[in-house]
Amino acid sequence: MHLTTLTTLALFLVLVQVQIQATSAKTTIRIRRKSGVVRLPSHSLVAANKRHGLGLDLPSLVDLVNHGDFLFSARVSVADQHFDVDLDTGSSDLWLRGPNCKAWDGSCGSHTPAINTTVDSLKPTGESFSAHYGSGSVAGQVYSGPVSLANISTTLKFGVSTRERGFKTSPAGLWGLAFPALNQIEGGNFVDSAGVHSFSFYFSDSRDKEEGELTVNGMDSSRIQGDLFWVPITSRSYYQFTPTQGSFRINDKVIPIPEGSSAISDTGTSLMLVPNDISDSINAAIGARPFDAPSGLHVIDCNILKTGPSILQYVLDAGVAGLCVSGISRIGELGKHGINYIFGDTFLRAAYTVHDLVNNRIGFAQSVHHPLP
Ligand SMILES: *[C@@H]1O[C@H](CO)[C@@H](O)[C@H](O)[C@H]1NC(C)=O
Ligand SMILES: *[C@@H]1O[C@H](CO)[C@@H](O)[C@H](O)[C@H]1NC(C)=O
Repeated sequence: MHLTTLTTLALFLVLVQVQIQATSAKTTIRIRRKSGVVRLPSHSLVAANKRHGLGLDLPSLVDLVNHGDFLFSARVSVADQHFDVDLDTGSSDLWLRGPNCKAWDGSCGSHTPAINTTVDSLKPTGESFSAHYGSGSVAGQVYSGPVSLANISTTLKFGVSTRERGFKTSPAGLWGLAFPALNQIEGGNFVDSAGVHSFSFYFSDSRDKEEGELTVNGMDSSRIQGDLFWVPITSRSYYQFTPTQGSFRINDKVIPIPEGSSAISDTGTSLMLVPNDISDSINAAIGARPFDAPSGLHVIDCNILKTGPSILQYVLDAGVAGLCVSGISRIGELGKHGINYIFGDTFLRAAYTVHDLVNNRIGFAQSVHHPLP
């Protein structure tokens, strides 16, 4: 879905226990820091695949750069050129900033080189594309050429932007990892085209000065604590699932997720977005100020970290002195399309997430962070 709203305010995350449970199993994801576990070498990855029923692919790893905990990017190759792109499980197209990009809002980002489209390995298809996201939109021309991510290569149709809005703080483009049903560019689905069986995200905490990690065709079990909790993918468009009998727990207060709710897991959204009334209850319980409509955020006094209840654990780089932002906010208009919850980066930093495309399921486990000294 791609929503990165946090550029000037600090993001202040709360220790909320999020439970996603089914009748026979239960897992609790604690949104707070963990530490002190030694990283296993990557040859353990194949064994982890076997143990967790992911098949015996040779997993391939790529480091993710953590941009202040609100955006995670990876280095990818397109037509033998290298770019940092935002990996987005809430959309399906790949697009890169074009040399002729004209921003509607100054968004074409002068800090990143545009793709050179005159190389031999790229062919214009003659088609144009446009895509709309929670935080902006893009339009441009479609090209076809070789792309690779974490050592997985394919030939793909992708967009080269000529117009952009809302991507000012983004790297060189967006790399969608969701299903073909969401593609604006037909024949532009990376996971489909490359035959990816599974992929897993570990999102670091910027305070640990550590980077994140994407594992394609597998998972890295040194990043998890406890078992994976699997939920079926209910619709192959977004990574959509039913958070059955889930709840938010803040100290003694339990705020249940109503029956029949629908959720998506989305790396392209910075916050955890929940129905407005539930967001208001959670934010009241943690001492945040009322919802601020212009910013779409709940501001919270950073001092609550020192003086308030122990549920408040994270402070990210402050842009405005003394002001922090709650990691959970209202879903608002985005919730009008049958999706009630977006489990964005706030949640995904706490929960290691496995996308198992073969068995049509998503696995969550408490992530294990490895702070650098
Ligand atoms: C990438 O692929 C090459 C050749 O297929 C292989 O030799 C190399 O070990 C792979 N690297 C990673 C990190 O998977
Ligand atoms: C783009 O690539 C072509 C072919 O390699 C090269 O001749 C040209 O100078 C490059 N353009 C830029 C702006 O780097």
